[in-house]
Amino acid sequence: FKKSNLEQYRPEYHFTPEKGWMNDPNGMFYLDGTYHLFYQHYPDSIVWGPMHWGHAISKDLINWEHLPIAIEPDSLGYIFSGSAVVDLENTSGLGSKENPPIVAIFTYHDMEGERSGINNYQSQAIAFSLDKGMTWTKYDGNPVLPNPGIRDFRDPKVSLVTREDGTKNWVMTLAVTDHINFYSSPDLIHWTQTSEFGKNVGAHGGVWECPDLIPLKTENGEEKYVLLVSINPGGPQKGSATQYFIGDFVDGTFTPDDTMLRWIDYGPDNYAGVTWSNLPEDQNRTLFLGWMSNWLYAQNVPTKTWRSAMTIPRELSLFDIDGTYLVKSKPASELTQLREASYVFSGQSSALPSQAVEIELAVDETDEFQLTFSNEMGEEFTINKEMGLVTIDRSKAGKSDFNDDFAAAHSAPMSWKARNLRIFLDAHSVEIFVNDGELVMTSTLFPTSPWKNISWSENLKNVKIHLLEK
Ligand code: FRU
Repeated sequence: FKKSNLEQYRPEYHFTPEKGWMNDPNGMFYLDGTYHLFYQHYPDSIVWGPMHWGHAISKDLINWEHLPIAIEPDSLGYIFSGSAVVDLENTSGLGSKENPPIVAIFTYHDMEGERSGINNYQSQAIAFSLDKGMTWTKYDGNPVLPNPGIRDFRDPKVSLVTREDGTKNWVMTLAVTDHINFYSSPDLIHWTQTSEFGKNVGAHGGVWECPDLIPLKTENGEEKYVLLVSINPGGPQKGSATQYFIGDFVDGTFTPDDTMLRWIDYGPDNYAGVTWSNLPEDQNRTLFLGWMSNWLYAQNVPTKTWRSAMTIPRELSLFDIDGTYLVKSKPASELTQLREASYVFSGQSSALPSQAVEIELAVDETDEFQLTFSNEMGEEFTINKEMGLVTIDRSKAGKSDFNDDFAAAHSAPMSWKARNLRIFLDAHSVEIFVNDGELVMTSTLFPTSPWKNISWSENLKNVKIHLLEK
């Protein structure tokens, strides 16, 4: 590796903290041409600890500027995951209509309380910014939603929901142990529960976390609501993963269309992903970002000065397979900006110009394929589709001694035809988008020497390799 030993595995184009520990993306909002990203952060160590909200901004979702920590823990507790909204009408009264406040809604986690055995150690609180998100003041009436005596009660995601009569109100989607609670508020301060959802539907192999409630239009213009729910453990590849439901959200109640299990990403490493708020309407897109790791081994992976990266940003939409809706996650359009040079291939293998590449391929009528990355150490990573299953195999792809479950193959059912692939490789990850994101698999990889070669089966055509550079 060209990079220093300490920086081995530092991605070229994925977001990472400058130093220290990172987990979930938090509080993402857009304002005046700037995308804000906050994240669960412990700056003093590369394992989880007292949680802060780290902060970074970007104009293009690719080049990020690190900013000082936005929200620090205090006597009420650690600052756990949550969201942020631009309060344009100043419903909270924390700013003015001329200078709308930005309000962050997060969970206070009282560590002392948890240790002492009380149940109500997680509560919802707010902080606000009057300078476009650069500095934050905690509200002095916190918590705004006290805990009713339930241990897991966290990760508020607030959105502005338009009711059938056209009026709008704030909706909070909150993870409560094994279900979701919905609350509504006129002012982001006073919250009333409207319903609960999920005790008897979905995956329940672990605790529910980091939800998001997202309106998306179907291909024929009907509005549906997608409810994202992260779960740890109990994911399809062991450890943590994000399931979702599709249905309607009317008068504060979510009703799913069916009870089918759906996962936003079938790889092992995409967790706690949520969407940006306040995107301009003319962008007409829903932007998602996930934490590219898994609680199974997140604190053990072999990076030295920092831990973990975010996924690439993705645009969510609905598509229809035989009358069933699924969510598609397409790489955000900004990613094509990274293409520095592009190579077209007619053979079946190539040397890799860098660890930062995007590979585009078309799948022929056989609907089968195989692709292998290899390096000088004899390590390899494979991707294939066979008999309706897409499988990625990192069992011989490099370092794995930090966790027994890491060296494994991961499969995803795909009953419909694969037409094309886009594969994003970076220093410690690969993200595979089949049919522009109808099926996605994200996986971290720690090869002991860089990937040098890629080869593919003859059912893959029109192969293009794009060298990616910021
Ligand atoms: C999910 C999570 C959240 C919590 C945060 C703490 O990864 O467990 O539920 O708010 O991480 O860092």
